[in-house]
Amino acid sequence: MAPNKITLSLLLLLATLTYSKAKLGHLKELEMTVYFQDYSGGPNPTVIAIPGPSTGPLNFTKFGAMFCTDDPITEKIEESSAPIARGQGLYVTSALDGSRTHVLISIVFINDECKGSTLEIQGSSPQLQRVREVAVVGGTGKFRLARGFASFETVYYDDGRQYAVIQCNITVLHY
Ligand SMILES: *[C@@H]1O[C@H](CO)[C@@H](O)[C@H](O)[C@H]1NC(C)=O
Ligand SMILES: *[C@@H]1O[C@H](CO)[C@@H](O)[C@H](O)[C@H]1NC(C)=O
Repeated sequence: MAPNKITLSLLLLLATLTYSKAKLGHLKELEMTVYFQDYSGGPNPTVIAIPGPSTGPLNFTKFGAMFCTDDPITEKIEESSAPIARGQGLYVTSALDGSRTHVLISIVFINDECKGSTLEIQGSSPQLQRVREVAVVGGTGKFRLARGFASFETVYYDDGRQYAVIQCNITVLHY
């Protein structure tokens, strides 16, 4: 290529880069608290072992155990409150001693405001600790390029129904 052609290509490339940058806008910070309504047993479970379905209580500390989940996510702690999202994905007990699970879960929004947008939670969760922090590694729709963290705490558990409510605080930066 002639030098002036190279210069032109470079200029075009720079222009494209500048344009993309302008289109992204400013990073916004978002904080929210939501609740995973989690049924690991009973007639309509939202967490099952892979391969499933299983009978009896799930064993979350068995190395290599895999679970698929589709929990309703609510803004309020009450079981009867309207879901704003679903927590869909899987987790795998990834520590030999059963202390950690690898979480791969999408928060798929279903409310009017964010319908179809997602936040992607991925990482190693110290599942036996009271508060578990996992990274938020991405997002789609309203949460494109999201990055941040989420902390989880089981705030209610009914052994008889194998029903748990897991509080989740999310802090992300996104465009
Ligand atoms: C769960 O699995 C672990 C590891 O294999 C085992 O030690 C434990 O007894 C199991 N718990 C139940 C309730 O089966
Ligand atoms: C979520 O944030 C609230 C308010 O700061 C706090 O009381 C609660 O302990 C947090 N929960 C988790 C799981 O981080």
